[in-house]
Amino acid sequence: MFKRKVSFLLTVAIVAALMLGGVAQRARAEDITLKIFLGSVGDIAKDQAAVDRFVKANPGIKVEIVLAPQSATDILGVIQQFLGAKSADIDVIQFDTIWPGILSPNMVDLGPAVKDAKIDTGAFYPALYNNNIVDGKVVGIPWFTDAGLMYYRTDLLKKYGYAKPPATWAELETMAQKIQDGEKATNKDFWGYVWQGNSYEGLTCDALEWQVSNGGGYIVEKDGTISVNNAKAIAAIDRAAKWVGKISPPGVTKYQEEDARNVFQAGNAAFMRNWPYAYVLGNGGADGKTETKIKGMFDVAPLPSGDSGKGAAALGGWQLGVSAYSKHPAEATKLVFFLTGAEEQKTKALVQSNLPTIKALYTDADIAKQIPFIANLVPVFENASPRPSTVTASKYNDVSVAYFTAVHDVLTGKSDAKTAFADLEVSLKQLLGDKFKVGAPATPAK
Ligand code: GLC
Repeated sequence: MFKRKVSFLLTVAIVAALMLGGVAQRARAEDITLKIFLGSVGDIAKDQAAVDRFVKANPGIKVEIVLAPQSATDILGVIQQFLGAKSADIDVIQFDTIWPGILSPNMVDLGPAVKDAKIDTGAFYPALYNNNIVDGKVVGIPWFTDAGLMYYRTDLLKKYGYAKPPATWAELETMAQKIQDGEKATNKDFWGYVWQGNSYEGLTCDALEWQVSNGGGYIVEKDGTISVNNAKAIAAIDRAAKWVGKISPPGVTKYQEEDARNVFQAGNAAFMRNWPYAYVLGNGGADGKTETKIKGMFDVAPLPSGDSGKGAAALGGWQLGVSAYSKHPAEATKLVFFLTGAEEQKTKALVQSNLPTIKALYTDADIAKQIPFIANLVPVFENASPRPSTVTASKYNDVSVAYFTAVHDVLTGKSDAKTAFADLEVSLKQLLGDKFKVGAPATPAK
């Protein structure tokens, strides 16, 4: 009896141990919860859907999305807090095309895993892939690329007698004014042109487009020449300052991407400068549930040109990388490879009109049919103007903050561009040190 009781207890204990072991094992596997830090601009429900597809395909790994702020400048601040604190709270990080040099020391080198997983790196646009390699270290994989575009209302162009979108900034000014004057009669909220004038990274992009298209160079040239203080750049910024309160709302100096999109999508602007993501949303979103007043009534074109005779689109885009402090670097890397793979990039192009980083997708028939501008504007994307992030590396953000602060001072009437850029040149010299010399733009657009 006693013996039987002992053996019974033993059996119970063994079974319990086995069960617990099993549960513990299962719990351990399930316990892997990756946190991915993702941007919050645009239709983020579609990013959730992509993450859900990964979770479904990878039992035992869960993924939580941690939403970033909207402004790229603020996003960098949050990422630097996580990484500075060596926090294991974030595994995968979505980061901007301008930050590999800043983030590199605190990110996993994905190079070995890229080889092990036999990722076809040759399928990416080389410039986009290589932009993430810092001193031989693969800091991230390009997820989508970006380029500034001119959105315009096709119905209004027709109504006011214009056959084509503006080819030059001067034409844009005339057209925006004429359409605005006409539309304001029945819609007091209507404006000619909306864009990103807030004091943040987005303004660096808009302003770089104005000055490059005017032959004013790249702020700091590829060879390290600090070129921003030149007549063409100054004229381009002064020109934009005149738009504020005239063809653009006074509040445009507080606008980011989503502010501009909201105005345009509500039918309250003739023209908008924005990134490709606004296209699907303007047409009601991939599932037709996004409220829009302009469905089928707009199109996109390259941005207008200034004195250079050519328009310029700022090169943007986002990468995925793994924090050096992740407790699950292998699983995190798996998630990065999944999301940046061709299949997910294709879906992203279709449902969010985000530009792929994989070259073959630009001739993909489904994408060409559903989002025609992606195939139509390939030269614009291939020739987009990079910000000076490679040459200034870890100092890029300081350079950009100094630049957009100077430009914002001009837009808000605190300064004129001549004074602001003379001061900026001094600040940039100080910031960048002796290796960087002041000079003329080395590569004026022709
Ligand atoms: C877009 C671009 C990014 C840029 C940002 C500025 O997200 O992809 O590169 O820095 O806009 O607002």
